[in-house]
Formats: sequence, structure tokens, C-alpha cells
Amino acid sequence: MSDRTPGSARRDFQFFDRQPAIPDATEELVAGLSAPAKSVPPKYFYDETGSRLFEAITKLPEYYLTRTETGILEDSRADLARWVGPDACLVEYGSGSSVKTRILLEACRPAAYVPVDISRGHLLASARRIHEDFKDLAVYPTCADYSQPFELPSTTTGLRKVAFFPGSTIGNFEVGEVPDFLRGVGRVVGPEGRLIIGVDTKKPEWMLNAAYNDAEGVTRAFNLNMLRHINAIAGADFDLGKFEHHAQYNRDRGRIEMYLSSTVAQKVRVNGALVEFRRGERIHTEHSYKYDAEEFRALAEEAGFRRLEARSDENGHFMVLLFENAAGRAGC
Ligand code: AVI
Repeated sequence: MSDRTPGSARRDFQFFDRQPAIPDATEELVAGLSAPAKSVPPKYFYDETGSRLFEAITKLPEYYLTRTETGILEDSRADLARWVGPDACLVEYGSGSSVKTRILLEACRPAAYVPVDISRGHLLASARRIHEDFKDLAVYPTCADYSQPFELPSTTTGLRKVAFFPGSTIGNFEVGEVPDFLRGVGRVVGPEGRLIIGVDTKKPEWMLNAAYNDAEGVTRAFNLNMLRHINAIAGADFDLGKFEHHAQYNRDRGRIEMYLSSTVAQKVRVNGALVEFRRGERIHTEHSYKYDAEEFRALAEEAGFRRLEARSDENGHFMVLLFENAAGRAGC
């Protein structure tokens, strides 16, 4: 689709499909499960049930991340308005279905809002809800894989760009991938464009381990549901009763490591391939990195971002950071 209306026509709603390349799921899954250290990318958590379970996780007493970040945003409305400024285009990395998006939109009243997500249906549904609720906001949902470079709608030309990446989703990237990803964000927001990002912090291990091993077993169900999802999309026959959820903080690496481990020696069919498991053998499903402020600042600086401000809760359990893209500026 070509970008039609120029300018920042308020009340405008246009969908931009950048037609992201979607890798062949079966090929990707067979490759990950046939490797000496078995793994499945965390994106396979999120079928309909997985998204519902993640939503339930965000409300658990042990999962402090969502409510802490939401609290920080609530308490920082005046700062957020100043951070975003007038005539801005807010580019959300993700579909914008969360309460956090609404707090930011209410506080900042940008001219345009561009949620970016690979999942068309989910993206369109939440963008329509935002369009209904924010009467003077131009909404331009853009279907793209935000981990790769993508083009913003030309309807946002002339507006200052502010990227929003909440939820500590950055923690699910490997540390080595973070600067490259942020360089991509820098290209999207342009020189002097800004980034507001939510980052989970290092804290006592018991608290981290509890957040990923909740008493109700919702995180366990979320992890195991990945196998059900793989059965549905890749013609696999995982028996969920023969795998166990494991999540543990690795202090040396500064990350939660999540696995599914096989309780018996078994063979699993994945499409045409047979995947063998020893008893106790694990599939790695997710890393969730935790950063202290200086560690994250250094990673962002590598990508050309300069930290301007930071907000945290009183216990320092989570941080919301404001960066400016200094790359490409004269003298930088
Ligand atoms: C989406 N992401 C930031 C969550 C996290 O905490 O790493 C995913 C999650 N995995 C288990 N619980 C929540």
C-alpha cells in the first residue's frame, strides 16, 4: 500500500502494511529442536492462549514488572508530557494494547500514534480501539517486524519521532543484540529523535525467581503452552505431560533462564523429523535479562543514544528511561 495522505491530519486512521517476511515456522522449529542445545524462540509463546496467559501473568502478585512500570508512568505524567513535547509522533514497538500506552497518550497528547506489530489482527483491533477513544489523534497502525528496519508512514513526515518500548521486552533480546536493535530504533526516530524504554532491574534473586515461578502456576502453563502451539502449527506431537517448567535466575549472566525439560527419554515428531530427548534434557525457551542503570546506559550509548532522564519506583525494581538519538549529529 502506498502512503496516501500527507501531513498530520488529526482523526486520520490509515493502516500501513510493510508485509514483514515471516520465516517458515516448521523449518525454524526443527532447526532449533535438532541443535545440540535445543531451543525455541520466545515468539512461539504467543498464540491466542499464550497471549491470554501472558496477560494473566502481568496481574500476578509475584510478577512485579507490569504494575511497577505502570505505577512509574502514572506518577510521571508531567515528565512524560515534557519528554514527548508538542507535535510529536509516538511510535510504539508493540501493538499498544496495554494500559501503559493509554497513560502515555493521555499525558502527552501526540499528533500521531504509530503502533508497530507483526501480528496484523491484534494490531488492527487495538489500534481501532485507540482511535475510538482518542478523538484528536491520528492513528497509523503499521504491520512490520520491529526487530528489523522498517519504514514509518510518510503521513508522519515533519513530526518529531518518539519511540516507546515498554514492558522490559528489551530483556528478551540477547545482550549482544541490544546495540544493533537500538541502532535500528535510532534510524526510525532519526537524529535527535527520542526513546522511552521500560527496563527491569537487578534485584534479590528470590524476588526474580518468584516472578517466573508463581504459586498459581500461570508461568508454568505459559511455558508449556508453547508445546501445544508447536503441535498446532508444525504438525508435532509433544505430550505436555512429559515436560516440566524451569525458570531460574543466573546471577553471572544477569538473566532469568527459562526451559522446558523432558521428564522421560522420548521421541517427538515435528513435521517429518523425529526429535530425541534424553531424560532431563531441556529446551531453552526464553532469557529475560535484568540490567542496572549503568549497564543499560552503556549499551544504549554504543548505539548512539544519550541518556537524558530516568524514573524508577521507590524500591528501584523497574526503570523507565528517556534517551535521545545523538548519532548523526554534528560532532558526535
Ligand atoms: C514479555 N517479557 C518481557 C516477559 C518477561 O518477563 O521476560 C515474558 C515472560 N516470560 C515469563 N513471564 C513473563
